[in-house]
This record gives sequence, structure tokens and C-alpha cells, in this order.
Amino acid sequence: MNGVIVTENLTRRFGETLAVDRLSLTVEAGEVFGFLGHNGAGKTTTVRLLNGVLLADGGAMQVLGRSPQSDGPAVRARTGVLTETPSLEERLTARENLTVYANLYGIALPQIKKRVDTVLEMFDLAERADEKAGAYSKGMKQRLALARALLHQPELLFLDEPTAALDPVAARQVHEIITHLSRDEGRTVFLCTHNLNEAQRLCDRVAVMEHGRMLALGTPAELGQQLGGRARLEIEVAPGDTGQAADLLRSAGATEVRVEHDTLYAAGIHREAVPGLLAALVTAGIHVYRLTPVEPSLEDIYFAIHDRANGEVAS
Ligand SMILES: Nc1ncnc2c1ncn2[C@@H]1O[C@H](COP(=O)(O)OP(=O)(O)O)[C@@H](O)[C@H]1O
Ligand SMILES: [Mg+2]
Repeated sequence: MNGVIVTENLTRRFGETLAVDRLSLTVEAGEVFGFLGHNGAGKTTTVRLLNGVLLADGGAMQVLGRSPQSDGPAVRARTGVLTETPSLEERLTARENLTVYANLYGIALPQIKKRVDTVLEMFDLAERADEKAGAYSKGMKQRLALARALLHQPELLFLDEPTAALDPVAARQVHEIITHLSRDEGRTVFLCTHNLNEAQRLCDRVAVMEHGRMLALGTPAELGQQLGGRARLEIEVAPGDTGQAADLLRSAGATEVRVEHDTLYAAGIHREAVPGLLAALVTAGIHVYRLTPVEPSLEDIYFAIHDRANGEVAS
């Protein structure tokens, strides 16, 4: 098996619930892999399986070339995990929290202080390192938990909804850290999220999960192509022309047409129909200043995949 994470038909039940249902995927070294899905999709269960803290009911998996089930400690020595609700020791300072963990991770005593200082610096916590963690804001607590997960310099980092409880400013700081860990430090990141913007921003590839099953896997662009090449268009016209342009777009098959100031936004036009549409607009005397096909966002893709999986006909 090649790949930092490889699973084949990985399955885990809780009673009647199939939390993870025959999951087969490969995560390559250095990528930010998005594991996308609503609550209950099986994201957290998968992370726990991959770290050997939960046993599988079926299938096979390897993490960093080893079995998390039979070789759990060896796997966990090289992986870092930020759980959904990380618990910090609130009565200890940030520095003390990190020092306790550095000991647990088995970092050699003479190196602990330096390593703790390094992560405090890296996560912008150095100035307040000697305050109790309980006094920290949510964002600072999350940075501290992330720092803790990185103390032993893991090659592979699991982040389970790292920004779910954060305000936008704190979330952005976490995004920047993830980008840095991947781009500058070459670490592999397995990112569970239900936040599509986050996935779009950060992930090289994404898996879309629902009820334990993987519905799709690929780069955001690949998933977009699977949707049949329907473009979203932005069309800027002369101020008086928006009404006529909207009518033309509708008769060309646009499913949604929205007008904002001088710009029309349309969905559902086939890419091949774009040149003909442009010709029709011009022939009708409409002054077109700009026509831009927009790649489908991960959000479009996500909802289309869900609709397809639930048997709805994509419009
Ligand atoms: N320890 C558990 N006991 C019973 N059911 C569980 C347990 N953990 C998860 N589940 C169930 O498994 C499914 C997947 O849960 P989870 O992996 O937490 O999804 P996610 O992280 O995507 O929200 C859900 O239906 C959840 O209720
Ligand atoms: Mg979860």
C-alpha cells in the first residue's frame, strides 16, 4: 500500500448505525485532504479508526505504512490529532500544558523547553505563555491545542473541525497555520470539516461523505467537471439592458438568473452554449462589457453531489 493513509473497505458500526461504510481512499504525502460532510457523516469515527483508538469491524487500513490497530503507539508517535473538543488543563498555564504533553510524547528532557518555546512562538502565544489556559479566548485555546498536537513534529496531522467554534478572525488564523504547515513544512493534513469555504480555501483534494459513505473524491476542479460542465456566468451589461439580457438568459436555459446593478448572475448554462448566448446577446443589441464563466464552487459541487446521491435530478 502506498500513500500516507490508505483504507480499503474500512467499516465501523455502532449497533445498527454504519458510522463508516466500506471507505476506500488514499491520502498522499504533503496534501491537505478535506474530509467533508454534515454531522453524523462519519468523520470523527474515521479519524479515531486511523489513529487506532477505535477498532474497525471490517476492511483494511495503513497509516504511515503501519496498522493503527496492531501498531497504535508507533502510528500515534508520528501523527498529531486535534480532536473536535480538545481538553486543556485550564488551571495550568499554556507553557505548563505544553510541557506536560511534551513529557507524555517522550520528547527528551533537555529539548522540551526549546520545543515548547518554539511552538508558543509559532502560534503567537509566547507573550501570554504564563497565563492560565482557562483565561484564554476560544481562538487562543484552539491555537494552544494545535500547538500541543504539533509538539512532537508529526508528519501527519488530523484536524477534526478545527474552526467550528471559532469566530472568523480566529478561524482565519487557524487557516493560515494550516497553510503554513502544509506549504512550508510539508506536513500532510487530514482536515475534517463541514465548512465548504474552508475546504475550498485549504484542500488539494476532498472526499464528500454522507452517512458513512464516500459520495465523491477528487480535486474541487475534478468534482466540478463531474457535474457535467455547466457553467455559472457573470455578465456585465449596460444599465438599461439588464431586463432584456435576463430574458435572453432564461430562454437560453439558465436556471437561476439574478441581477445586481449592471451584472447578471446565471446558473445552469452548458459551457458549449456560451458562445451562442454571447452572439444572441450582441445581436439583440445588448451592450456586453464582460462575460465570465465562473468555476463551480465547492458549495455548488457539494449540493449537486448530495442531490445526485439522494436521487434528485440535477437541474
Ligand atoms: N461512540 C459512539 N457510539 C454510538 N454511536 C456513535 C458513536 N460515535 C459515533 N456514533 C454514530 O456514528 C455516526 C457517525 O458519527 P461521527 O463519526 O461522529 O460523524 P461526524 O464526525 O461526521 O459528525 C453517527 O450516526 C453517530 O451517532
Ligand atoms: Mg465529528
